[in-house]
Amino acid sequence: MIVEIGSINVDYIIHNRRLPVPGETIYGKGVTIMGGGKGANQIAAAARLGAETVFLSKIGGLDHYNDIVMDDLKWANVNTELVETVPDVYSGSGYVLVNETGQNSIIIIMGANGEITPDYVDKNKACLDKAKICMVEFMIPMETCEHAIKTAKKQGIVTLVNPAPYSPIDDSFYPYIDIITPNEIEAADFCGFAIDDEQSASEACSFFHNKGVKNVIITMGSRGAFVSDGKKRMMVESYKVDALDTSGAGDSFNGGFAYAYWKGHDLFTAAHFGNAVASLSVQRLGTMKSMPTLAETEQVMKLPAL
Ligand code: RIB
Repeated sequence: MIVEIGSINVDYIIHNRRLPVPGETIYGKGVTIMGGGKGANQIAAAARLGAETVFLSKIGGLDHYNDIVMDDLKWANVNTELVETVPDVYSGSGYVLVNETGQNSIIIIMGANGEITPDYVDKNKACLDKAKICMVEFMIPMETCEHAIKTAKKQGIVTLVNPAPYSPIDDSFYPYIDIITPNEIEAADFCGFAIDDEQSASEACSFFHNKGVKNVIITMGSRGAFVSDGKKRMMVESYKVDALDTSGAGDSFNGGFAYAYWKGHDLFTAAHFGNAVASLSVQRLGTMKSMPTLAETEQVMKLPAL
C-alpha cells in the first residue's frame, strides 16, 4: 500500500495564449475546475495505475466545489475514507494559468490543508501498518510532514518527500528521507546554485546525500530526471512529447515512480516509469484528471525513450 499525507485543492485552471502583464485585463480561452493539490495528484496518479492507497487530507466545509474534488479522487480510485472536513474553512485552492506552450504558473491558497496536523496523523497512523511507501509534499504544515515521515521511517516504511512548493528543511529531518524528488528550481533553492545540466544536477544530488538523504531524484521537465542512489547516478531520459499542459507533471512523475517502486522495481526503472506517466499527463489538460492508466503507460514504455 502507498500512503499519502498531503494537500487537496480545488483547481481553477485557465488556458490562454499568454499570461496578462500587470495592469492588463485579457480574455482567457476557458476555465476548468477539477480536483488538484500536489498530494491529491500524486496519490491519484498512483491509484490510477492500480496501487492500493490510503490518503490522509482535509477539505473545507465552506467550499461549494468539494463534490468535484471528491468525485475526481473516486474516479482515480483513491481510498478517501480518512479524508476529513474542516467545518469553518474553505478547501485549499490552486489558481493555475497555462499558456499556449503548456507552461504554467500557479498561486495556491492553503485553506483546510493548514489543518492537517501531527495529531491527525497520529489518530490515523494504523493505516501505516500495511504501508510500503509513505509520501508527503510541502503544501501541508512542515511539522506534519516531519512528524509523518519520522513516524513512517521508524516503522521501516520507505519515505518519499516531494519538497514542493519549496520550504527550508531542518537538518535533523533529512536523514529520515529515503527518496527526495525536487524539481530543478526547488533543488536550486535548497542548494544555492543553478541546476541546468547533468553536472549541476549531480552536484545537487551530492548536496542532499551529504545531508543524509539516501536517494535523490531531480526532476528536470522535458530533459527527464537525474537519479542518484549514492553510488550510481545518471539522467533517466524523458519521452519527447508536445506538452499541452505541464501543471501536475511533477505530481504525475511522483505517483508513477511510487507505483513502480511499490511494485518492486529499482530506483532507476521506477524513474523511467515516472517519466512515462508524466509524458502522458502533460499531453492532457488539467491536473488530477490528466493522470493515465497502467495500460496507457505501458503502451508508451514499449516505445524506446527518445
Ligand atoms: O502540482 C500541481 C498542483 O500544484 C495543482 O494541482 C495545484 O493545486 C498546486 O497545488
